[in-house]
Amino acid sequence: MGATRLPLSLLVLLGTLRVISRVSALPPEPEMSTSMLTENNGTTLHLEEIFLGRCWDFQRLWKVSPEINCTGLWDKFFHAFSNRDPCDQKPSYYDDFFSASAFDTPSAEKTLFWSGTTVLAHEYSNDGLRYTTLEDTLPGYVLNGLRWCGSLSEPWYNEKTCPKCPPTVPWDSFWRAASRSFAKRARGDVYVMLSGTRKDQEGKPIDAFVNTSYFGMEELPNLDQQKVSKVNVWVMHDLIVVPPYREACGKGSLIQLDQELSRRGFLMDCTDDPPFLRHLQCVDDPNSKSCTKAATDGTNTSNAPKITMYKISLSVIIVSAWLVTVNT
Ligand SMILES: *[C@@H]1O[C@H](CO)[C@@H](O)[C@H](O)[C@H]1NC(C)=O
Ligand SMILES: *[C@@H]1O[C@H](CO)[C@@H](O)[C@H](O)[C@H]1NC(C)=O
Ligand SMILES: *[C@@H]1O[C@H](CO)[C@@H](O)[C@H](O)[C@H]1NC(C)=O
Ligand SMILES: *[C@@H]1O[C@H](CO)[C@@H](O)[C@H](O)[C@H]1NC(C)=O
Repeated sequence: MGATRLPLSLLVLLGTLRVISRVSALPPEPEMSTSMLTENNGTTLHLEEIFLGRCWDFQRLWKVSPEINCTGLWDKFFHAFSNRDPCDQKPSYYDDFFSASAFDTPSAEKTLFWSGTTVLAHEYSNDGLRYTTLEDTLPGYVLNGLRWCGSLSEPWYNEKTCPKCPPTVPWDSFWRAASRSFAKRARGDVYVMLSGTRKDQEGKPIDAFVNTSYFGMEELPNLDQQKVSKVNVWVMHDLIVVPPYREACGKGSLIQLDQELSRRGFLMDCTDDPPFLRHLQCVDDPNSKSCTKAATDGTNTSNAPKITMYKISLSVIIVSAWLVTVNT
């Protein structure tokens, strides 16, 4: 078993953290201004060691040449937020870090953007072997799921409490900068996995394409028209939701996305629930109606036993009838 593979439950948790930071890109909640400090914890314990360990692991996995200077990268990252007010955060503070962490691996030709589909997107990307998500590139890999914020006194980062910096969190500016440089590196066909059955905490539906999401705000506007040939959109629907769907290709916010892409000169190819992703969803819920249908569509063997049973029953009836006739 690969030592680098995170357990699924942890992956879900990490995904949730990113989801929270993405949802927070939506308009601020009204009561935020009353108290700056929220229940957020401080900088992740052993942040530096986790950063360095993941960085060396990335080097080991992808055999980057010349070798990554992980301590040098850490210095650039730490410099971006330390010795500052925790809410003094701008994406540009990370410029040095991002220019030093731009590598060709994993492939920029299989770029997969995601919004509202964190678990499925990362299961499918397979750590950058099948497709490349932001979290499979070095900046995303080293900082996925972590928290950090600065402090104006020693040790120059906040160990106890990272405040909420309305409307969002201190590390939001990092993910904005990361999303931008990730989009700029994409080339060839790119892929976007969206959710057509997304809901907020109160159960209200969220559009598949939200123009204030990281994808809508940071990634889409930074796609390079010279390098990107086509945008393939996959709209996924939860297995428990029955069609017709409110949000799907050619419906709802997908119309807006299509317009937005063609305005920027990109061709969009949209598919609802492509089978290769449906099968992956079915791993967790094999008995769901969509999954049993998907299985029989593929193999078509379920008819055989029924026909055999029918033939046996028919033979029994004929033989019985013959016996009855003979005996009378
Ligand atoms: C903060 O960390 C403590 C100790 O690990 C934990 O009990 C608590 O739930 C955390 N709070 C939040 C908001 O994550
Ligand atoms: C790595 O970066 C550090 C800090 O920027 C620098 O002092 C060191 O010389 C670099 N090491 C190599 C091998 O380039
Ligand atoms: C997002 O879309 C809405 C219409 O749905 C529009 O009014 C708004 O200006 C857009 N915002 C951005 C940042 O593009
Ligand atoms: C299954 O296969 C048989 C013959 O091979 C075909 O006649 C039948 O239409 C198929 N059924 C389905 C549901 O594809």
